[in-house]
Parts: sequence; C-alpha cells; structure tokens
Amino acid sequence: MLASVLSSAIAGVDAFPVEVEVDSGGGAPSFRMVGLAEGAVREAFERVKSAIRNSGFEFPNGRVTINLAPADTRKEGSAFDLPMALGILAGGGFIEKRDRLKRHLVLGELALDGRVKGIKGALPSAILARTRAMDGIVLPRENAAEASVIGEGLRVIGVETLNEAVGFFEELAEPSTAAANVTELFEAASRYDVDFSEVKGQEQAKRALEVAAAGGHNVLMVGPPGSGKTMLAKRLPTILPAMTFEEAIETTKVHSVAGILDGRALIATRPFRSPHHTISDAGLIGGGPIPRPGEVSLAHNGVLFLDELPEFRKNVLEVLRQPLEDSRITIARVMGTVTFPASVMLIAAMNPCPCGFFTDTQHECTCTPITIQRYRSRISGPLLDRIDIHIEVPAVKYRELTERAKGEESALIRERVNQARDLQLGRYRGASFYCNAQMGARDLHAHCRVDAAGERLLELAINRLGLSARAYTRILKVARTIADLDGGGAIQAHHLSEAIQYRSLDRLPA
Ligand SMILES: Nc1ncnc2c1ncn2[C@@H]1O[C@H](COP(=O)(O)OP(=O)(O)O)[C@@H](O)[C@H]1O
Ligand SMILES: [Mg+2]
Repeated sequence: MLASVLSSAIAGVDAFPVEVEVDSGGGAPSFRMVGLAEGAVREAFERVKSAIRNSGFEFPNGRVTINLAPADTRKEGSAFDLPMALGILAGGGFIEKRDRLKRHLVLGELALDGRVKGIKGALPSAILARTRAMDGIVLPRENAAEASVIGEGLRVIGVETLNEAVGFFEELAEPSTAAANVTELFEAASRYDVDFSEVKGQEQAKRALEVAAAGGHNVLMVGPPGSGKTMLAKRLPTILPAMTFEEAIETTKVHSVAGILDGRALIATRPFRSPHHTISDAGLIGGGPIPRPGEVSLAHNGVLFLDELPEFRKNVLEVLRQPLEDSRITIARVMGTVTFPASVMLIAAMNPCPCGFFTDTQHECTCTPITIQRYRSRISGPLLDRIDIHIEVPAVKYRELTERAKGEESALIRERVNQARDLQLGRYRGASFYCNAQMGARDLHAHCRVDAAGERLLELAINRLGLSARAYTRILKVARTIADLDGGGAIQAHHLSEAIQYRSLDRLPA
C-alpha cells in the first residue's frame, strides 16, 4: 500500500517541499529509507516504530520502504518523523481520509511515547505551505505561534501527540488552531528592554552612535574596561529605524532555521549579537555539512557587536568582509550553494592597549609602545576599511555616574535618525544602495558636495594631520550623514570637522 505525505526541509533560510512516500506490504519484516537522508533522519525508524506502538496502533509486520523525494537533495533533522508515522498509519488503514492528509504540510519530531517535539524552521515551512496553497500545516504545538505569524491564508494546527494528529486527519477531534493577531503581536514584540536614557554622560559617544545609526556606518569604540562600551553598543538597535514587518519576518526566519526562537513567535526588535572572540569562522558566518546560519546572519537587520576586536582570530575577521560588503553570505557545498542574509551594522570595541588603561586618566598604563603597536596591528586593514567611525570612549567620571538626570530617550534620538534616513532614501531612489555608508567612490563625487570653507578645512586636515586617502572618503561619507542630520544641505566645514573627530584610530599616538 502506498501513501504519501507532504513535508519540507530547509536550505539556507527557505523551505523546500519533500514528499514522504511510504510503501508498505507483505514479506519478511524490513525497513529501508531512500532519498539522501542524513543522521537523524536515518535514525527515525526506531522512534517512529516506538511512537506508533505506544500510541496504541500496530506497526506493519512486513516490508516498509520510505522514500524522501526529491532524492538528490540532502535532508537532515527529525522533522520527518511525524509525516513518516502518518504515512505508515495511512498505509495500514488507520487513516482513511487520505485526501485530507494530502492537503496539509506535516512536520514534527516524535518521542518514543508518541509525543510530538519541536522542530527548526517552522516559519519558512509555513511560508512554503501558504505558497503552495495547502489547506494548513500540522506541526508541533510549540512551533504553532511561530508558524501563525504569516497571518491569514493558512490554517496552523499545533499537535502535542501522534494521536492528536491522527484525530485531526480522521476529523475525530478538532485540535486548537493557532490564530495570531499579527498586528498586536508585532507591536508587543517591537519594544526594547534597554534605552539610551540609562547611559549617563558619554555625550560624545552617544552623538557618534546617532551619526552611525543615521548613515548606517560601522563603528569602532576604543576605551578602557568599564567605560560603558558594551552598554552603549547594546543600545544601538534602539535608535535604528523601527523594523518593518518584512524585516521582522526575514530575521525571524534565520532564527527559526537556527532553532533558537525559544517560543517567541516573531522577532520584531533589531537583533543584537555579541559572539565571543574565540568564535570560529563557521560560527561567525555559518557553516557545517548542511550549512547553518552564523552569528552575522542571526544579527540580520540588526547589530553585530565584536567586543575585544584584536582578540579575534585573523582568519575569522577576514571572512567578515563578504557579508559586510554584500549584506549576505554564500556558502558553497558539493550539493550547491546556500545563501544566508547578513545585513548588519558592525560595532566593534577594543581597549586602547593590552592593559586597557592607555587613555585612562585614573590608571597607569603598563604597556610599552611596541606592545601597543602590536596589539593594534592585529586588526586587519581590510576590516578597518569598512569602519567609517572610530571613537574614544573615556571612563565616565563619578560625578556623571551619580547624576540623577536621565539622558535623552532612544525614541527621541530615533526620530532624528529616521529623518536623516528619509533624506537618504529620497536622494538614492533608483540607486542600488540606500544609506550614506554604502556609497561607492563615484557616488561620493555626486552626493558629497563640500562648500569652499569645507574644502579649505579638508586640505588642512590632510596636510597637517596626515590623514590618508582612505580616511578622506570615510570623512566625506560621515560628513554627509552629519549634514543630513542637519537638514540635508551641502556639507559645511563644521560637519567635516565633526567627521574628522571620528577618525581617532588614525590619530591615536602609539
Ligand atoms: N555611562 C554610564 N552610565 C551608566 N552606567 C554605566 C556607564 N558606563 C558604565 N556603566 C556601568 O558600568 C558597567 C560596565 O560597563 P560596560 O559597558 O560593560 O563597560 P565596557 O564594555 O567598556 O568594559 C555597566 O554595566 C554599567 O552598569
Ligand atoms: Mg565590554
């Protein structure tokens, strides 16, 4: 008897359909699985057999062959357990409403006792089910909220046991269906639990982060331990433009595929990811035999924070170049390439020297010029090239820390950022980029007009401060953003002089 159930597998951050075909019949008891199944899928047999028996059904006492089609794509994970079990039960006559089975996409891992356990990638699978105009998706209860964020047009049936799934297909019982109020959900999920008003003092650093947010510029913060670098970085997402629903879905897909949603239905705040400096290149950009997203993709549409930048391995920082340039990661495998989205703002932090106290007025620095030089040279030039803004973050004075007055709230800063971003969207309409940081050399010429006083200042800066040509283009872009925060007119001398301040690494004495 042949039965087939539609399921899905993940490639990158998207789901593709997988037909689970079950052929059962007479002969000596045997079990075969074909169709490039990996690890957990091959182990499915024991789980499925126990789950079927422990749910009160009979397991066929003959030959069972399962094919996962298309046969030329690798499939991993345990989400095929439930469709396999349902296919076997349909073949054994326990499910008679086969049409109903055909009109739903089915996913779920089975425990030996028949419970249905959570899976990865429920959101992209739900999107696939809707695209294919299925009646609904049957999946683990714990993934139901996540699948339901795609809104109307797809029925989401969350089940807790194999029996519940059978009951649904036999129309014996009506399991609860998850219907999310997507608008409410989105609003509730788009609140941050930190705010810039909690940061005392540090006015210069806050201003620099506002400029960074307004133009999409990557930032490097240099300062002694405890000066608040991590605290500031964590709050950067709160002043970026609010996430759109589409952005939220894109980011949630990555987290869904990685299996780290932890019951959340939707990520509607810009992610903040802070990988430790011991991370591998695969951990950072993604990898594995069937590639999984790395930290830079988990930070998609948000902020990637690299604390203690010089401590990261050189090859790890090297691999960041592609995503910083292209806003995505392509990973090549024998079976083809996989692409993950990776549009992030990079914010990095470092101590000014190995001991940390070089720029501190309270502590004595114990480093020698040579050790300081060596420490700084660990950050590769190509990566530094993608960081427009460097700022010094000094230790805050006790008086400022104990001040009662709260700083400006993130919402207010964000309003100014939004205005500057709107100006850029208008200016770059029809171009392949949308914010100042993404401008190429040619765009610079067209969009960064500098007035006469500004020209004189630039000339002076280059001749006297010895700023490089590399620094020059960064200064122009950042000055463009500062002028945009100032209404969007031509770049004036005071915009440029502020931008020049944001090149502290070019000037720091070693
Ligand atoms: N400007 C500040 N306003 C309020 N608290 C601060 C400030 N700077 C530092 N702190 C406090 O000091 C702690 C350490 O700051 P942190 O951001 O971890 O420093 P860093 O990353 O530079 O080593 C923070 O958790 C916070 O409690
Ligand atoms: Mg820190």
